[in-house]
Amino acid sequence: MLKNFWYAVEFASKVGTEPRRVVCLGQNFVLFRTESGAVSCLSDLCVHRGGALSMGTVSGDLITCPYHGWQYNSGGVCVRIPANAPERNIPRKARVDAYPTVERYGMVWAFLGDLPEEQRPPIPEIPQWGDPAFRAVEVEMELDANYERTFENVVDASHTPFVHGTAFGNPDSPQIPDYEVQQTDWSAEADIKMSPPPPKGLWGLLARRKERPEYVTVTNGWYLPNVVKLHVRLPIGDLILYDFNIPLSQDRTLVKILGFRSFFTGAWADGNARKRIEKILLQDRPVVESQRPELLPFDLADELHVRSDALQIAYRRRRAQLIEDGWWVGDSDVVTGDSPHRSATVIASPVRRENPELASAWVHKTRNGGSPQ
Ligand code: FES
Ligand SMILES: [Fe+2]
Repeated sequence: MLKNFWYAVEFASKVGTEPRRVVCLGQNFVLFRTESGAVSCLSDLCVHRGGALSMGTVSGDLITCPYHGWQYNSGGVCVRIPANAPERNIPRKARVDAYPTVERYGMVWAFLGDLPEEQRPPIPEIPQWGDPAFRAVEVEMELDANYERTFENVVDASHTPFVHGTAFGNPDSPQIPDYEVQQTDWSAEADIKMSPPPPKGLWGLLARRKERPEYVTVTNGWYLPNVVKLHVRLPIGDLILYDFNIPLSQDRTLVKILGFRSFFTGAWADGNARKRIEKILLQDRPVVESQRPELLPFDLADELHVRSDALQIAYRRRRAQLIEDGWWVGDSDVVTGDSPHRSATVIASPVRRENPELASAWVHKTRNGGSPQ
């Protein structure tokens, strides 16, 4: 998990003057709106005895801990300790971490890190927000998978004909022509050509009106730390999903989606749009939840990559640099039960013995060291 980034932690519409707990990077935070309407983000851990501020109350610009009533301002400074006599000073250490917040694109973004403003990586741009040509819906779902697995799943074009049938591509023509990755320090994008779904349903409409194209272009991109864009061009218009993969813990991810469409832009079609997006997530869910190791390996060579995986490879390389820069948080060696977390081993098969040169080059090592005698 990466610190020093702006994380979209909640839909802005869900944050009011009631305290709201959100979880990200395996930590609890409390969000609340102060009198001016601005959103505050504090650590949810009261410095006194660890009460959850999110279970407390907000009055004006102050949040009150439910346990002994300590009051904190939006900067995280404790300004009242009810059990103290009024003339007693409040200890200077009586404060909780406060994180910068920005409200943008209908989301509350919290900067989870300690970088000064001018060094912070940018919030990705979402030009469809507020554009009357588009209508947006919000969708969310929790998955029992690591956020980098769910994140990579969305930039992975080659899984779509297998996991999503004809929703984006054509199971009878799953080849992905080589594509070029446009990369910056904080993002990577690619126009990926896919064979269009077979001519039925919506594509049938197109087929009747004009030639069925040989390829349709899907624009796919990632924006650090955890956002993926998926732009699908349908015969009736554009569907553009922004997918926020929020790490609740190492093994659990809250996926929030802003889904824009340029067709059926009336509110009447929102329910249907939401259902379609949920269906896509439900198709991905069993696959990403079953991936082993659960956590993305640190070493590129620990999994096998092909040309169509270029966007994920770009991510893993960039991530390796940020890890080197010290931006990684979380214990990489956490092991729960017997499941493999970041590296996987297998039982050697006879093929290894029969092909010694292959055995030593194999990506997945065997449990007992692997190379045949
Ligand atoms: S634990 Fe919060 S006031 Fe005591
Ligand atoms: Fe998928």
